[in-house]
Amino acid sequence: MPLPHNALPRPLLVGAGVLALLLGSGAFGQSVPETAETEDDASVVPFALPQSGPFEPADIEIENDQAIADWFRSAHANAAAEAFRHWDEEGEIESSCATCHSGEGFRDFHGLDGSEAGVVDGPIDVGGVVDCGTCHNAGLAQISEVTLPSGVAHPVQGVEASCLTCHQGRAAGGDVEEAVADLALDEPDPSLRFINPHYATAAATWLGGYGASGYHYEGRDYSGRFFHARPVESCNSCHEPHTLEVEFEPCLTCHQADSPQDIRISRQSYDGSGDTSVGIRSDIEANANRLLDMIRAYADEVAGVPMIHDGTRYPYFFTDANGDGAVDMADGAPVAYGAWTPRSLRTVFNWKLVTSDPGAYAHNPAYALELLHDSIADLAGPLGIDMDALDLLR
Ligand code: HEC
Ligand code: HEC
Ligand code: HEC
Ligand code: HEC
Ligand code: HEC
Repeated sequence: MPLPHNALPRPLLVGAGVLALLLGSGAFGQSVPETAETEDDASVVPFALPQSGPFEPADIEIENDQAIADWFRSAHANAAAEAFRHWDEEGEIESSCATCHSGEGFRDFHGLDGSEAGVVDGPIDVGGVVDCGTCHNAGLAQISEVTLPSGVAHPVQGVEASCLTCHQGRAAGGDVEEAVADLALDEPDPSLRFINPHYATAAATWLGGYGASGYHYEGRDYSGRFFHARPVESCNSCHEPHTLEVEFEPCLTCHQADSPQDIRISRQSYDGSGDTSVGIRSDIEANANRLLDMIRAYADEVAGVPMIHDGTRYPYFFTDANGDGAVDMADGAPVAYGAWTPRSLRTVFNWKLVTSDPGAYAHNPAYALELLHDSIADLAGPLGIDMDALDLLR
């Protein structure tokens, strides 16, 4: 680590000064004001010269280099992604979206820019990404809890406040319950629309039944937060925070596998295949595929309006009223599926929540399996499928 006394005053660092600004004090988990004094803390010095000379500029190791290079090729820095370009035409990011779609919006929401906390006052410019100052921000230490879409307030510490803010999704099982309240279970209702849990919902699955993001069936218990094991208890113990990649090597101290996807501890099969030589991810995937097939069969046979799933365009479920295998079009646009019943809406919510998190198998395999199992059981009745014969495990 660089020594604090050697830290250059920021104005001397052309270019780097800009980054120092982006970095703020460079500290997280510490409530220090953003002043030069913070550079006394060795752990927060972003730029420093080697202890003794003489040296060539090329010999100077700038610690930030690696972090910047890693971040730059990550999804967080991908300014061309739909997640950051979606508002280009409007020229400004809607306040209800800005919290998670720009570092500037994130700081505004949490009041890290001096504005009121808990709301985006905006306007938030387009063109932002998840920049350095989103996670390297002394103000994060003041955030003691993050409120999830279910209304549950989860206590947080330090940088985890950032991951949990943006990767919690936007809707919860409670929203589905509200939408379907008092409606007949198997009757299509035109007021019902697909409720999207949103994307990259890792924190939602991770917190499990306690976070209450899924649609929970009455009388069923759901596994809570996946505590896993001490060394892998937080987002950044598995994800390198700049590349965002999962570091596989540490997993091997406890697991024997060729890849994260191949990890399995459970000696039972959850998907009826009886195959326990594959990763637990395989069981989750098989049950998710089965559930989607059943949702489509239900649309056809019970709701009476065939459905087509297209994962590449919103809102993903479309009408195929004449059952010819092609999405119906109206005024040149595909017709969103419109024959949801309370039963299909709640099952599709769970399907989408689980599949919106490609890491569900590591974030909370038990919760993912429970949501899928209960949703499959929900549809089995009206479809006349014998649940026992499927040989699934919850
Ligand atoms: C709680 C945080 C959060 C909020 C609020 C939020 N989003 Fe997102 N959104 C995300 C995350 C995280 C992703 C990244 C998913 C990925 O591509 O990996 C995402 C992705 C997207 C995408 C890209 C989807 C794709 O298929 O690549 C769109 C479009 C989007 N969001 C639209 C919106 C809109 C519109 C709003 C406001 C009405 C909004 N989001 C509010 C977190 C949020
Ligand atoms: C998504 C959150 C996030 C973003 C965005 C981010 N960082 Fe980091 N950064 C972290 C975390 C978490 C650590 C602590 C890593 C650890 O404890 O091992 C860290 C550590 C660092 C370190 C210490 C050395 C290291 O690599 O561990 C430097 C330097 C750094 N970040 C610079 C930056 C710069 C510069 C940017 C922007 C180009 C940036 N970070 C963007 C989360 C982030
Ligand atoms: C300001 C909101 C925000 C914060 C804070 C944030 N993320 Fe993200 N994250 C996003 C968005 C948006 C995307 C999708 C970007 C894209 O599509 O290019 C994403 C993508 C990811 C991905 C997917 C990478 C891939 O290759 O698709 C991972 C993993 C991730 N984030 C982990 C984290 C972790 C861990 C933290 C906390 C250290 C964190 N994120 C903090 C918004 C955020
Ligand atoms: C036990 C290790 C572990 C922990 C803890 C963990 N993750 Fe993951 N995460 C993974 C694995 C493994 C994957 C799946 C990688 C794959 O299969 O490609 C993943 C996938 C993801 C993805 C999807 C990446 C993509 O390619 O689209 C996001 C986003 C994500 N994690 C965010 C988080 C956040 C936020 C947290 C903390 C709430 C977290 N993760 C905690 C291991 C972990
Ligand atoms: C310190 C030991 C330890 C480390 C390190 C560790 N795990 Fe685990 N892992 C466990 C334990 C213990 C369980 C069982 C936990 C439980 O079911 O409550 C588990 C369960 C899992 C499961 C579910 C398996 C199943 O059959 O249900 C997956 C997937 C997983 N770990 C992935 C990972 C990944 C990916 C990493 C590395 C990023 C990792 N683990 C690192 C100890 C560890």
